[in-house]
Amino acid sequence: MKLIIDTDPGIDDAMAIAYAAAAPEIDLIGLTTVFGNTHVHQSSRNARYLVDKLGLAVPVAQGAPFAHGEDDHSPSEHVHGPEGFGDLTEIPEIGQNHDLSAAAFLVEMARQHPGELVVCAVGPLTNIADAMALDPEFASNLKRLAIMGGAVYCPGNITEHAEANIYHDALAADAVFSAPPETVLVGLDVTLKTLYKSADFEDLALRSPDMGAFLRDISRFYLKFYKEIGGLEGCGLHDSTAVIACTHDHMFDSVQTGLKVATEGKAIGATVPDETRPPVWVCRDVDGAGVVDLFTARVASLP
Ligand code: RIB
Ligand code: CA
Repeated sequence: MKLIIDTDPGIDDAMAIAYAAAAPEIDLIGLTTVFGNTHVHQSSRNARYLVDKLGLAVPVAQGAPFAHGEDDHSPSEHVHGPEGFGDLTEIPEIGQNHDLSAAAFLVEMARQHPGELVVCAVGPLTNIADAMALDPEFASNLKRLAIMGGAVYCPGNITEHAEANIYHDALAADAVFSAPPETVLVGLDVTLKTLYKSADFEDLALRSPDMGAFLRDISRFYLKFYKEIGGLEGCGLHDSTAVIACTHDHMFDSVQTGLKVATEGKAIGATVPDETRPPVWVCRDVDGAGVVDLFTARVASLP
């Protein structure tokens, strides 16, 4: 399966990119970057650092710095750290970004691989909305869009109403859901059932002394946030769960519904069922332990 991950690395993004590199069913043909956990230039630097560390010859195309209608962004430093990799602050610039913007790269790849390309969006949906605006055939060229985002039947995480990726660009998200490709939404409804604990990271580091140890090291900051703020003994495998949904949909129970996104007011970023909208698949349940075990088995195979 040809895959592009649209990402704001970000600690759980790094985990998802490592998983995609290790998964035998996945042909990762590119990363596109977006603001969110980080500023977009940090997302791109971190993405290029990861593909180098993973030994991948995968292009990184830089995308949107800000949400639709905005001209600034405040990253989630308190969650992912000042540079997006927890306590790690010295991250080298390796290589360069692709010449195309993220939206143009997404459109071009979808044109080159009509009906074959899966895009997994694990950050704000700005680049996806921009690609849809750039090429009216982008959505129909895609095999599938998997989105880590939303909280349809459960509370949000950035506010009680909204999940962070959707909240960070509610206008873009609402545009995507107004005319969605074949889409599966992997929201907090399921990703909070895939908690990855400190002991899981230690096991991973023993079995994968380079990549696993790196993920263990950068996750400490993230686990501390989840414990102190969320009262949870582990962090959500948010982005990895969305990547796994691209190849293992039998591990998920989903319902079909149209969605709209609140674009103003105190509920901004809320993902609300709306039967007047084209249907997407919304994951309502998951084999959480199975996702955790699959993630560990695959990433532990890395050096
Ligand atoms: O709400 C979780 C999502 O927001 C994840 O994609 C995480 O990386 C952050 O971007
Ligand atoms: Ca993310």
